[in-house]
Amino acid sequence: MSLEMVEDIKEWIYEASALIKERLSSPLIVEQKTSAADVVTNVDKEVEAFFVQKIQQSYPNEKILGEEGISEPVEDFSGRVWVIDPIDGTLNFVKQQDHFCIMLAVYENGVGRLGFIYEVMRDELLWGGDSIGVYINERKITTVKKQSLADGIINVNTNMFVANSFGTKDIAEKALAVRMTGCAGIAFKEVILGKENGYLSCLQPWDYAPGKILAESLGLIVESLDGKALDLKAQSPVLVAGVETYEDIKNLVHH
Ligand code: IPD
Ligand code: CA
Ligand code: CA
Repeated sequence: MSLEMVEDIKEWIYEASALIKERLSSPLIVEQKTSAADVVTNVDKEVEAFFVQKIQQSYPNEKILGEEGISEPVEDFSGRVWVIDPIDGTLNFVKQQDHFCIMLAVYENGVGRLGFIYEVMRDELLWGGDSIGVYINERKITTVKKQSLADGIINVNTNMFVANSFGTKDIAEKALAVRMTGCAGIAFKEVILGKENGYLSCLQPWDYAPGKILAESLGLIVESLDGKALDLKAQSPVLVAGVETYEDIKNLVHH
């Protein structure tokens, strides 16, 4: 991992963002995945293929775990693994042309090194890692505002809220207010920027890979709600919060 790699990734992200904006002027090809609300578009696939090509060109023979499965499947997290979510918040992308992001993370032997969350329509790049710190565009973030569950706005996954899975509804009701953004990357970003005090969702590795690196670099807690260690090869119920909110939530989680 080098500063040159950071610059390469930023350049690719800005190029991918321009491509996404250009594609917004033509009709999207939308396909259903598991339900009518779980969709993928031609642009998700094109953006993932773009990143795969860039990585293979500059960093050949490295493993790539992408949501849309453009590259070879990743068997394990030994060596360097690139994790890509080409468009996070695809339903927002389709319905709102807003509130979506590009996400990319770099892991080395299972350890998160670099994370990037780019909120395309706001031109805000949250990036960094344990050894370089965390930045929002050019500004370094050094601390995250401390707040309890009752003092802040919590972000939750809609299905988990409705079903009260792991006590998500009970937890959310103890917060000052609740938001359901429908984009894991933006929720991580809001918690890291101190605009929200926590996020609870059911996520795939590419949904939380960069957010986990960035959040933990700033002392936030990222954990599975089922008490198991987060597994980069499986879906997990994920919580991100500062210590104060985490302590409040821990006592309310249903097992
Ligand atoms: C989804 C979004 C959403 C979360 C889902 C994810 P996608 O990602 O992050 O907020 O609740 O679990 O699948 O499919 O739009 O990349
Ligand atoms: Ca996603
Ligand atoms: Ca996606």
